[in-house]
Amino acid sequence: MSFTPPRRYWLTGASSGIGASLAEEILKTGAHVAVSSRSAAVLKVLSLRYPGQVLVVPGDLTNSQTVREIGAKIAEDWGSLDTVILNAGTCEYVDVQQFDSSIVEHVVRTNLLASAYCIEAALPLLRKGTAPHLVGVASSVTYLPLPRAEAYGASKAGLRYLFESLRIDLAPEGIEVTVVSPGFVETPLTAKNDFPMPLSWPVDKAAQHIFAKLKNRPLEIAFPGLFMAALWPLSKMPNGVKLAIGKRMVRSSPPIKDVP
Ligand SMILES: NC(=O)c1ccc[n+]([C@@H]2O[C@H](COP(=O)([O-])OP(=O)(O)OC[C@H]3O[C@@H](n4cnc5c(N)ncnc54)[C@H](OP(=O)(O)O)[C@@H]3O)[C@@H](O)[C@H]2O)c1
Repeated sequence: MSFTPPRRYWLTGASSGIGASLAEEILKTGAHVAVSSRSAAVLKVLSLRYPGQVLVVPGDLTNSQTVREIGAKIAEDWGSLDTVILNAGTCEYVDVQQFDSSIVEHVVRTNLLASAYCIEAALPLLRKGTAPHLVGVASSVTYLPLPRAEAYGASKAGLRYLFESLRIDLAPEGIEVTVVSPGFVETPLTAKNDFPMPLSWPVDKAAQHIFAKLKNRPLEIAFPGLFMAALWPLSKMPNGVKLAIGKRMVRSSPPIKDVP
């Protein structure tokens, strides 16, 4: 009888929200998961709940040296990775009356640059993995420009392009690439939102949906379906129509800051 070794994942942003719920889904299958986030304590608790399955590799992913060290630790302990899910991210809204480029810098650093550092660390390990799969959590925000989302939208549009371009260049090596585009999911990140979140999903439902879909390696996992059915046609409208839609969503409220 042949023994199939457990699949090895690296999941970022595993301490909270979608990442924390996704970690549970993956671990329940018996797979092994290297988990990253700044809060090490939460990851440690997960490792105690799933003994022998979790490799705790905490750190601030916006620090390229830290990410290199995480990659080295995974290489040392495991030697390879089969699936990498780059989910860690943040959101801050922009107040155009006090346009602050440091918000753009912080959000782009967390959502886009940190992902690039992780990709650099992950690719050599994926090349040694089985049926390698690279997954990036972008956002449905990239379908339509929204008010106050200058920083977040720019970071996720950049992330989308990064992954879609990588998909082409990695295809000859057999590394498949999936982009996840959630609509609204109820997590600590969106709990800060001061506006309605139409058709939002509970986090466990979102994580189960993502994990179930990942098995088929689609190019894109966009959800909730009803939300996408409304959003997708809007994304194809002329720019003037998109501007009119965006203007209707403008509200006057102070910016919401990320608390690292
Ligand atoms: N919730 C939604 O409606 C929604 C919609 C579309 C897309 N998304 C995307 O889904 C992903 C997860 O979001 P979420 O809603 O689950 O948010 P969340 O609950 O705030 O979780 C974010 C995760 O990212 C980690 N993280 C943030 N900055 C980090 C850094 N510098 N270094 C390492 N880890 C970092 C956080 O851990 P630490 O704070 O411990 O570092 C946490 O584990 C994000 O990329 C987000 O943009 C969410």
